[in-house]
Amino acid sequence: MKNTVSTLQKQKQEGEKITMLTCYDYSTAKLMEEVGVNTILVGDSLGNTMLGYSDTIQVTMEDMIHHCAAVSRGIKDIFLVCDMPFMSYQTSVYDAVVNAGRLMKEGHANMVKLEGGKEVCPQIEAIVKASIPVCAHLGLTPQSIHALGGYKVQGKTENAAQKLIDDARAVQKAGASMLVLECVPAKLAKKITEILDIPTIGIGAGNGCDGQVLVFQDMLGMFTDYVPKFVKQFANVGEVMKGAFRDYVDAVQKGSFPAEEHTYKIDDEIIDKLY
Ligand code: KIV
Repeated sequence: MKNTVSTLQKQKQEGEKITMLTCYDYSTAKLMEEVGVNTILVGDSLGNTMLGYSDTIQVTMEDMIHHCAAVSRGIKDIFLVCDMPFMSYQTSVYDAVVNAGRLMKEGHANMVKLEGGKEVCPQIEAIVKASIPVCAHLGLTPQSIHALGGYKVQGKTENAAQKLIDDARAVQKAGASMLVLECVPAKLAKKITEILDIPTIGIGAGNGCDGQVLVFQDMLGMFTDYVPKFVKQFANVGEVMKGAFRDYVDAVQKGSFPAEEHTYKIDDEIIDKLY
């Protein structure tokens, strides 16, 4: 069954958890489709995991479109959310609508995600008016990393927690149909989830959210530059890959690869006639 804004909303109402993973390429998207993941986020975390940047600030619209379009070709029923990169929506409402439109038209996204609370509500309203579904993102918002002063848990004081609740209400009122909560104390994320009508997706926000998201290289143990506390490694694919790379190097060096079964044949008669 195709996942849509309505089916995700229904999952919240019926208490059925929503699954989301990040993904940035066609082959991985196909694997996620096969196991029935509800939603893929083409996150601007691709700046870290795919492009080797130290943050998400340098990620461009072209990067997002390129990866989102690749993912879209590998899925059928998965709902596709694409991040709006830094400075593609903060600059003006006009920029926000134009760039959200590009992610839909050129990246084939089903929804766009942007970071921020009350300050981006005019952008959310305008994008939604253009018939583009919006996912908001509160808590630790990596595009504001220099303003936040580092990757830290957000909303721990009374004022900060109340601001998060106020921002969550504001983005819902502005028309957002989903909310990502990143690095927020579990009890606060649960409270926000209970207050809101729209689904919340947590990352480092406990299990009281309506769904969960993880960066796929983190949960597969493929990205070890920095492993946050909230990451669970569901497999150690990094070690499996290294083992295979080692075996390949070894086989090529020893001449045992390619073997007979990997080799194309030609008649000896033809070979003998060649000079
Ligand atoms: O870019 C990303 O992958 C994200 C998730 C961490 C929610 O925004």
